[in-house]
Amino acid sequence: MSESDLPGGGVDLAHMPGHWVLARLGKRVLRPGGIKMTRQLLEALQTGPADDVVEFAPGMGATARMTLSTQPASYTAVERDEAAGRQVQRYLHGANQRCIVGTAEATGLESACASVVYGEAMLTMQTKEQKRRIVAEAARLLKSGGRYGMHEICLVPDDISAEDVAGISKDLAQAIQAGARPLRPAEWRELVEAHGMEVVQEQTRAFALLQPVRVVQDEGVLGALRFGLNVLRDRPARQRVLAMRRAIGRHARHLMAYMLVAVKR
Ligand SMILES: C[S@@+](CC[C@H](N)C(=O)[O-])C[C@H]1O[C@@H](n2cnc3c(N)ncnc32)[C@H](O)[C@@H]1O
Repeated sequence: MSESDLPGGGVDLAHMPGHWVLARLGKRVLRPGGIKMTRQLLEALQTGPADDVVEFAPGMGATARMTLSTQPASYTAVERDEAAGRQVQRYLHGANQRCIVGTAEATGLESACASVVYGEAMLTMQTKEQKRRIVAEAARLLKSGGRYGMHEICLVPDDISAEDVAGISKDLAQAIQAGARPLRPAEWRELVEAHGMEVVQEQTRAFALLQPVRVVQDEGVLGALRFGLNVLRDRPARQRVLAMRRAIGRHARHLMAYMLVAVKR
């Protein structure tokens, strides 16, 4: 893959968002609960030939491919990063599959155009107001009875102190070089319910994105080997990966992967 094909271009490595550092090293699954939680999410969303699907922030397109294999009537991705958008585009065929480069806060798509809207590892990084706008946009795009899914990071336990929350966000943001504002499960639920949707399923799983066993599960043996070799070869990138792993590890007892599925009333 050439430099212009890689997301995160134009930013020096020390300040590049962590997900693009990982993508450049060959990682394709960039979400906290890994491929297993993605499968749980897709199983709950039940996409199929009758569905018009909108995916927010597909990144390198790993989930896009899984969704496309269910042959939805249409698939529209909305991705902010142009190079990532080009990667996703490679998996798309025909007039009913497209990737728009834009923001999930204001997609420009028609109201009630979708029966399924989902996004993974994209809300956690947003501010409170951006989270609200993105969930409002998902609700606007959905038809009545449509399904909404998210796969994000949550904070545990529910009574975690405000001081701990602030410390975790600051530490993670520093390591990831991107916003890191996870919510408690009750807060994720409230955000969705405030936009006329009823939560029908929630799951949690360890946030183990950079643990070797999880990397093998997510990327397969060959993908994990390629990633491991790239990490070994590239010292500056390795330092970024290790800093992210340490930051996640420091707060492991307060961080979990979280998925939620809701139905629009
Ligand atoms: C951590 S990556 C996750 C990528 C992919 N969903 C995955 O789970 O592997 C975050 C993604 O969110 C995208 N993103 C962030 N904010 C966005 C927004 N407001 N609208 C569209 N995409 C956004 C980034 O460009 C990036 O592709």
